[in-house]
Order: sequence, then structure tokens, then C-alpha cells
Amino acid sequence: MPPPTRHGAWHRLQAHADAVRSHRMRDLFDADPERAQRMQCRVGSIRLDYSKNRIDDDGLDALFTLAEAMNLRGAIDAMFAGEPINATEQRPALHVALRMPRDAVLEVGGRNVVADVHTELDKLRRFATAVREGTWKGRTGREVTDVVNIGIGGSDLGPRLVCDALRPLSHPRLRTHFVANVDGARITGLLRTLDPDTTLFIVASKSFGTQETLTNATTARQWFLDQGASEADIAKHFVAVSTNTDKVTAFGIDPANMFGFWDWVGGRYSLWSAIGLPIMLAVGPDAFDQLLAGAHAMDEHFRTAPWQENLPVMLGLIGVWYINGLRAGTHLVAPYDHGLRQLPAYLQQLDMESNGKSVTRTGAPVETKTGAVVWGYSGINGQHAFYQLLHQGTRLIPADFIVSLHNPNSPPHHHRIVLANCIAQAQALMQGRTTEQARAEMRAAGLDEARIRELAPHRTFDGNHPTNTLLLDALTPHSLGALLAMYEHKVFTQGVLWQVNSFDQWGVELGKDLARRVETAFDEGGYPDDADTSTRALIDLARDALDA
Ligand code: F6P
Repeated sequence: MPPPTRHGAWHRLQAHADAVRSHRMRDLFDADPERAQRMQCRVGSIRLDYSKNRIDDDGLDALFTLAEAMNLRGAIDAMFAGEPINATEQRPALHVALRMPRDAVLEVGGRNVVADVHTELDKLRRFATAVREGTWKGRTGREVTDVVNIGIGGSDLGPRLVCDALRPLSHPRLRTHFVANVDGARITGLLRTLDPDTTLFIVASKSFGTQETLTNATTARQWFLDQGASEADIAKHFVAVSTNTDKVTAFGIDPANMFGFWDWVGGRYSLWSAIGLPIMLAVGPDAFDQLLAGAHAMDEHFRTAPWQENLPVMLGLIGVWYINGLRAGTHLVAPYDHGLRQLPAYLQQLDMESNGKSVTRTGAPVETKTGAVVWGYSGINGQHAFYQLLHQGTRLIPADFIVSLHNPNSPPHHHRIVLANCIAQAQALMQGRTTEQARAEMRAAGLDEARIRELAPHRTFDGNHPTNTLLLDALTPHSLGALLAMYEHKVFTQGVLWQVNSFDQWGVELGKDLARRVETAFDEGGYPDDADTSTRALIDLARDALDA
């Protein structure tokens, strides 16, 4: 298939971008009283208002035409059919199978993977129930009080986000901790607070070859043994989640204490698999089922809804419009619910590891910009930190504002402030404040004309800054599952339009390889071949520090 740039819709999009670059959203709202009504879609408990975007019907039409030209529909069907769409790793990308109901059938290589998924889910359910009910005992017969997930990247960010978001539903006896950074300050600091007899370690690694995870896990195991536990006790306190039984066994964890998943689950798409064990332990199997059900509902929506009503597709296309049409370089994620404050970090991996690519699926250089720099932070906190640049800086920064309409965990007088701010910030970013308005307000406040003249430029806001507002009815396992699946499919949509493989991550390998060589240089002296003078000088400094 020709690249997107060869399609008429691409040129239409570029021409349209040039034509509307100076258009103002305020005018679009004035010209169309129905704009807000028309530019929204809803899936179950998630509503998207995309009216505060610098886009009009012609722009959307060009995007839909481009989606057709790039065969988005065919690509979606191929993913759901289990075709090997992750071509560089010669496998399907079947995270959607992880949330299919028990009676669904999806055959890959003659095997119904949905049956395998539910067999493993049942095993997880039995284990999680035993820990939660206290029938799973530690080496001295005591119940588990602390669960420590040791993993990184996709083996950390998803479970970490979901456990945090659903904390109000957590089992009262179980505290959940996440260790990712190999800086030993994290694990040693945490271990000081734990009782070895009531702690359960989950070593989570798809490959079971990730240096950071294995180093942290080894430190945890040594600490456990140093507290007087025996090798035999390890079985009661260490479990593994992986696709690699041999490496789990070699590490010293009994395969009976291993929960598996499959190579067709990408790390950043894996929270729905056994990688979600900390989630199931914290909130229970039924809530985990709800998480899966929410994601499955979004999958079905994505698979079947027409583009205009298709929430992930709309988000993906609007993102393409900003990146390739209006040349935005970043995308802000601003969750207003405290429970979603880890969403930006999760989406950074999901989006940037998936679409941070510069060759197409067939290895040709891409002719377009691909994934944006995704960044973000709690919206409310951000307002008091970086929003200044959104309001009055010089850059185009599209944003997603996400908030729950109902929040039973926040007293109403708190929640109304959250909602008001989320809504008002989107309004302020879009409408801005004209110089005339600024002057009038200062006059009304009694400032003299000289001061008004001086301050007017500083108190003028250009506005025209775009946001999507995503409203959840409430943050529940079901809506959270739907939200995260929505973002997975947004990323997929964009990957299809850019023709990249959203499911590999070769770019992270070079750094790992060089880190191993730098470590060898620490041990053996000298430098890695071809190390530049800067790298050599840094190695010298580090070596001196390590030897001191
Ligand atoms: O280095 C990147 C990466 O491979 C991610 O894609 C993955 O989520 C993470 O490392 C952890 O990998 P693993 O689960 O195999 O330890």
C-alpha cells in the first residue's frame, strides 16, 4: 500500500491545514450553535467532547477519507482476527483476546487462545482468592499483608496505574508496592518497612531477562533469606509472572508458582493478562473481570462503530491532524481525578514505545512525523505549575482533559472544585481573553489608564488552544478498562495511518546493549569499542566513583 503522503486525502489535509491555520475556535463556535452537540461521542460511561479542537467538518472529512485510504477497517479486522500484524516479531498483537468473554473463540495457529486466556485467569483467580481470604499463608503461617510487584515498563506501569486508580476498592489487609527503578534506594528503602513473613513478591517480566527486574528480585530474595527464611520458604513468598518458564525456573522460582501469558501480548498491552496479578490481588477477581469487561466493550465499539462515532478513532485522527496537519510536537494528558494521576506515565509508554518509529512496517523511511511527545501530570496540580505555558506560551499543545462526573471518594465540596477547574481550563484555553476584555476588567477593578496600558499585553490570552474533554460517569473498574482500551486503540489507529508497526520496540535495544558494554568496561578497564571521548570521560568518572 502506498504511504499516506501519496493519497489525495493527505494533500487535502495539508491544504486544509494551511487554509485554517489562522482560524479561531471561538469563531467556529459562534458560526455553529450546534457545534458542541455535534462534536461528541459516547461509549458506555465515557463521553468525549472534541468540539474544542481546531478542526472543522472539512478537516474531519479529509481525515475519514485518509483512514479509508489507509485501510484502517482492514487493519482493525486483521488485529481482531489474530493475523501476525507485528511483522518484525512475526506474531499477532492480541491483547483484545485477553478480554474476550469465556465463550468467545479466536483461533491462532489452530488453537483457541480465548480458552487459554480463561484457563490462566482461573488460575490467577484461585491464587488471588487464597491470598485475599487468608488461606495462602506465609512461612510462619501468617497471612499476606504486603504485595511487592517487581517489574518495569509494561510489567509495572499498567498494574501500578490501575491499583492506584482503584485504591478505594482495595482489600483492607493488603498493601501493594511497586518496584521498578534499579536504583537500590527504592528496594532497600521499601524492604526496611516490610515483614518477610507477611510479604509476597511478584517478579513480573515478560522476558524474564530484564536486568533491572532481575537485580531487584535477587536483592529481595537475598533479603528474605537473610531474615532467617530457607530456600524452601521461597515458594510461599515469591511468584513469577512471565512467558519464559525456563528463565523463571533458572531464577529459582518453582514453575508451580508461575503465572503465564503469551508472546502475542506486548509488554505495554499486558495489564489484562497475568501481569495484572497485583490488580486482582488488590481489588479482587470480580473487579478485575469488570476491568476486562470495560475493555472488551471498548474493543467491540472500536471494531464496529462508524468512524464519526468511534471514540478511539476520533482521538487518533484528531491527533494525526495536529501532528501532521498543524505540526504539533507534543500531546498533554491531564487527568483531573487523583486516581488517574499515573495515567500520563502509562500513556507515555503505550504511545511513545508503540508509535515512536521512523520506518514503516516494510522498513522504508516514513515520510511523515509519527508519534507525539506524550507528557502530563495531574491537571489540577499542573494548573499551578506548567499551565502558564499552555495559556500564554508560543506552542501548539493539544491536550486531553479527563475527569469523572461522580466521585464517591471525594466530598462534594472538593469534587465541585475539580469539575469546575477542568471545565473552566478548557474554556479558558479555547476562548482566551482579548485585550479589550482585559482592559475592561482592569477598568472595572479601578486601575488607572497608565497601569491598564502597561498590563494589557500581559493579561491578554490568545486562546485557541485545543483540548479534548473526556468525561467518565465515575472511575470504576469497568470505565477504567474502557478508558485504557480506548487509548490502546487510539495508538493503533495512528500507527495504521503512519504505516508503522505499533507492536515492536527495537529502539530500546541499543541502549541496553551499550549499558552492558559500559558495565564490562567498569569491571575490566578500558572502554567499549568506538566509545566517543565524552562517553570515555564519563566512564572514567563513574569508575572512579565506583572504586572509591
Ligand atoms: O525495554 C523495553 C521493554 O522491553 C518494554 O517493552 C517492556 O514493557 C519492558 O521492557 C519490560 O520487559 P519485561 O516485561 O520483559 O521485563
